[in-house]
Amino acid sequence: MIKVDLTGKNAVVTGATRGIGFGVAKALAMSGAKVACIGTNEEKLKESVAEICAGGGEAKAFVCNVADSAAVSEVASAILAEYGRVDIVVNNAGITRDMLMRRITDEMWDDVINVNLRGTFLVTRAFVESMRKGKWGRIINISSISGLIGNAGQANYSASKAGVIGFTRTVSKELGNRNITVNAICPGFVDTDMTRVLNPVLIQGIKDRIPVGRIGSPEDIANAVLFFASPDSSYVTGQVLTVDGGLIM
Ligand code: NAI
Repeated sequence: MIKVDLTGKNAVVTGATRGIGFGVAKALAMSGAKVACIGTNEEKLKESVAEICAGGGEAKAFVCNVADSAAVSEVASAILAEYGRVDIVVNNAGITRDMLMRRITDEMWDDVINVNLRGTFLVTRAFVESMRKGKWGRIINISSISGLIGNAGQANYSASKAGVIGFTRTVSKELGNRNITVNAICPGFVDTDMTRVLNPVLIQGIKDRIPVGRIGSPEDIANAVLFFASPDSSYVTGQVLTVDGGLIM
C-alpha cells in the first residue's frame, strides 16, 4: 500500500460493502482517516466495517441508496453530526445492467444513470459545503475505461461513466480556489463480484490483453485513490487516471 498520512481526515466512501469500495475504505482507514462507509446491504456493510476496525482502522456503517436524494441528505446530516467535518469523498458505488443498446429498457437505463451518475452528484453536493468551510477537500470519482472508450453491451454504463468524467472536470474548476481537488479514476478490469459473473473465456481474453499480465485488484485502485487523497497531491485536479495494467483495447 502507498504510504500516505491521513491522520485527522474524515472520509466518506460509497459502495464500501465489497470490491473496490471496500478496498478503498480499508486503505483510507489504514492510512489514518476515519471512514464513513456507505452501502445498501446493512448486514454486509456492518461485516465490512467490523473487518476494517478489527485491522486497527476507524470506520462506521451508514446505510443509504446513493440514487435517493432524500436518503443522501439524511445520511450526510448523520455523518456530519458524527464527524463534524468531511474532507475526502470517494464516489465508488456503481452498478451495471449490460445489454445491447437496442434492447436496453428505460428501467435499465435509468437504474444505471441514477446510481452511477446521479449518485455521484448527490453525494458530492451533500458534502461540498463542509469541504468549502474547511478550505480543504479531496473528491475522487470512480469512473471506468468504458466511459473513455465505450464497450459494446454497456451503452448505459459507458454513458454514466463518461458523465462522471465531465462532472469531475467541471467541479474541479468550481472548487479549485477552495483547495478542493476533484479527480477521476478509470479502472480497467478488476476482480470483484461485478466482474466475477462474466464468462471465464471472456475474462481470459481480457487478461491476454493486459501487458502487466494480471487482472487488477481493489488494492490497485485503492493505491490510486490514496495518491489523490494525499495532502501532497494538491496541485493535481480535474484529472482522469486510467489504472488498467496497460490494457490494450
Ligand atoms: P461491486 O458490485 O463489487 O460493488 C459495488 C458496490 O456499490 C457494492 O458495495 C454495492 O452495495 C454498492 N452499491 C450499488 N448500488 C448502490 C446504491 N444505489 N447506493 C449505495 N451503494 C450502492 O463493484 P466493484 O467492481 O467493486 O465496482 C466499484 C466501482 O468501480 C463501480 O463504480 C464500478 O462501476 C467501477 N468499476 C469497476 C470495474 C471492475 O472491473 N470491477 C472496472 C471499472 C470501474
